[in-house]
Amino acid sequence: MGTRTPIQLQLLSNNLTMSIMNDIAFQQCMAPDCGATYGLGEVLFACRRCGALLDIRYDWSRCPVPKSLSFFESRWQTPIRSREARADFSGVWRFRELLPFASLEEHVTIGEGRTLLQQADELAVTLGVKPGCLYLQYEGFNPSGSFKDNGMAAAFTTARRLGRRRMGCASTGNTSASLAMYARHTPSLNGHSMQAVVFVGGDKIAFGKLAQALDFGAKTIQIDGDFDACMELVQEAVDRLGLYLMNSVNPFRLEGQKTIMYRVLEGLGWEVPDWVIVPGGNLGNTSAFGKAFIELRELGLVNRVPRLAVINARGANTLYELHEQEKIRFDNGRWDRTRVEAWYARTSAEGRRAKTVASAIEIGRPVNLPKALRSLEAMEGVVRQVSDEAILDGKALVGAHGYGCEPASGASVAGLRLLLDERVISHSDRVVCILTGHQLKDPDVTLNYHRGSRDGTGVGSFANSPVPCATDIEAIAKLLDA
Ligand code: F0G
Repeated sequence: MGTRTPIQLQLLSNNLTMSIMNDIAFQQCMAPDCGATYGLGEVLFACRRCGALLDIRYDWSRCPVPKSLSFFESRWQTPIRSREARADFSGVWRFRELLPFASLEEHVTIGEGRTLLQQADELAVTLGVKPGCLYLQYEGFNPSGSFKDNGMAAAFTTARRLGRRRMGCASTGNTSASLAMYARHTPSLNGHSMQAVVFVGGDKIAFGKLAQALDFGAKTIQIDGDFDACMELVQEAVDRLGLYLMNSVNPFRLEGQKTIMYRVLEGLGWEVPDWVIVPGGNLGNTSAFGKAFIELRELGLVNRVPRLAVINARGANTLYELHEQEKIRFDNGRWDRTRVEAWYARTSAEGRRAKTVASAIEIGRPVNLPKALRSLEAMEGVVRQVSDEAILDGKALVGAHGYGCEPASGASVAGLRLLLDERVISHSDRVVCILTGHQLKDPDVTLNYHRGSRDGTGVGSFANSPVPCATDIEAIAKLLDA
């Protein structure tokens, strides 16, 4: 990895052809005792030899990687008419040297990842954090309103290259919305449009998300079951239905989601924060964030990694129980599968199903568990569970300070409050909370919180209830002065 000027780097990366890509990027089984490798062109969602999850890996010695992360700042100045303009506008592809599995011509983008780290001083003061120490990474500003678009840009790039036309996923809502949107925007290589097939749980999906999938024309299959049932079904259906799977078991999805961490670093002038806090559902983000930092450290582009806090809802707390109570550790890839399976068998026998108001993370069997354990090891991570009330209060606090997010994202702030109480995080630590989805995804929950729901449950602790008032200017004036 020699030192190169920005222009040399640009030329080199633009000229990477597919054959070169295949030499420098490949798929690899994450299990160290197996480590089987596969070419980029193989359609696999698990290792053919041992069934473990796959990673996209790179031979970095053959990739034109910049010697400093500040190289990426130059991409903000790309002239609009240049060949690189679309890729450089994308918050995913402007970091293309760190996910070099596709050429400039192949990148699928609809302008995802244009999200800026926000310093949240007022919220910091409310939470007892030192001003200047709390940041929100609001991924709800993506085109379909959630962080999923980062992953879809990467996975659709691969799907298109492979000539696939029928995309499928199981979803609590956001994956389906994002998949449906990208399918509409991505012509296949022979010019046909792509088909989106999404599996969602009958009454488990927030209206905003379902509305998106329907509006974008996805074949929306509502099954009588929850996300875990959808996930099992869709994995079974891949071959029978010829689906290209777009859930986060697709390793290309996670390559796109790594860029959330690059943008966090960029927002901090390439300084590494002390903590990253993220809600945990299927654990794709958790997995991607760990991979991002493992690679950056390997490349010498950061000299330390932040700590990671993954926040489960109490009613969907698989990672919390396995990591914090059962003490399951990644252990260099030799994590105790038998104990994890015994835990699943026991909780299934008890009839336990995931249940939380944060429907996005209502997941009992996270498919990325092994990769999440790897991230927790690499980032000296902790896992916490928070109640639905705490999630809704976290969400309301975000809203009250002007960003707004969907319930699952509120878990980040709820987790921060808990970790401050526990003194695991100190008030002067630099903390980044990831807000994963847009405020308007799940308006029912927001209205119930502020107005009190129709079934008689009370309003939330930080509720801002509508005020009934006579149609009279004096009455309104009195009300405003009160
Ligand atoms: N936040 C939101 C808003 C989500 O939609 C999801 C996942 C998560 C957090 C959890 O992220 O899976 O990376 O741990 N939603 C998926 C879906 C499962 O189908 O939309 P994760």
